[in-house]
Amino acid sequence: MSAIILGIESSCDDTAAAVIQDGKVLSNVVSVQEAHRAYGGVVPEVASREHQAHIVPVVDLAIKRAGVSRDSLSAVAFTRGPGLIGSLIVGMTFAKGLALSLNIPLIEVNHMVAHVLAHFAEKPYPSFPFLCLTVSGGHTQIVLVRDYLDMEVIGRTLDDAAGEAFDKTGKLLGLDYPAGPHIDRLAQQGEARFEFPEPRIEGLDFSFSGLKTSILYFLKRNLKKDPQFIEKNIADISASVQQRIVSILMNKLEQAAEKTGIREVAVAGGVSANSELRRNMEQRGKALGWNTFIPKFEYCTDNAAMIAVTGYYKFLKGEFTGHGVEPVARWRGK
Ligand code: KG4
Ligand code: ZN
Repeated sequence: MSAIILGIESSCDDTAAAVIQDGKVLSNVVSVQEAHRAYGGVVPEVASREHQAHIVPVVDLAIKRAGVSRDSLSAVAFTRGPGLIGSLIVGMTFAKGLALSLNIPLIEVNHMVAHVLAHFAEKPYPSFPFLCLTVSGGHTQIVLVRDYLDMEVIGRTLDDAAGEAFDKTGKLLGLDYPAGPHIDRLAQQGEARFEFPEPRIEGLDFSFSGLKTSILYFLKRNLKKDPQFIEKNIADISASVQQRIVSILMNKLEQAAEKTGIREVAVAGGVSANSELRRNMEQRGKALGWNTFIPKFEYCTDNAAMIAVTGYYKFLKGEFTGHGVEPVARWRGK
């Protein structure tokens, strides 16, 4: 019998649903919430209300595009955490209701595990064990992946996440939220001629708060001399910031590969959409003899295919969730 899994993702500001059959993606629908742009960041209360408005049409569309009937679903997987509690509640409650009405299993999924398993949405798959640099708006981790559901975080950020470093810098530069894609685009017309310091952090952990502070002082200093400094140099500033964020990430990833002896190296999460990071993964990976895995854009940023894929591997192991489950904002479970 084939397994058809519906995945639901609502951890932050995107409402997403996807259907996969025996590990193959049949549909992957994302509704991006535009309402936060004006506020320069995600407003939790607004996100919850937007999820409520979008969840039914998004799930409907995912099932329709997959070309399957609702009754043929084998299980419903949903994001239990980490994320914004109000956002998580909407996806979870909907998932519970649907699983109950169809009398099929409910499967909880950890959003960060799912970012890693997004690599199994489409071939070629990495082979175990592999390293995955997981970089999103809320997390920065180096994960040692022994098996689908057997992972260990061997490096993490001590303060801001890599995506946050992009977003907070963007805010200083007057760019819309989320600023990562804007900095990426501007950097392509610029030259990385400004030097920002690389933090000295022991081991495989990261830190980005020092970088943010040095950018702030750099801008203050230069704006005093020339009030138009940002407008005149935005492409070069973007290129410089981007280059430093990417070099911080790549240096730690390189250390992790050296330390573990693992040459299967992947990148995941929203920041893996960054073109400079993708280029570095390919070029440095080649020079170091890595097998590199860079997901398609649609599997980098938040999506439900990754939730459905994770749900599928849990389904195969019979790892189901009771209806008493509650979402967890800072969840470290699997
Ligand atoms: O994984 P994701 O979609 O959501 C979270 O789970 O956080 O990641 C969102 C983050 C944001 O910080 C956004 O600025 C960043 O990913 N991002 C990028 C790019 N596209 C998205 N950062 C740099 N360059 C990009 N092209
Ligand atoms: Zn994410």
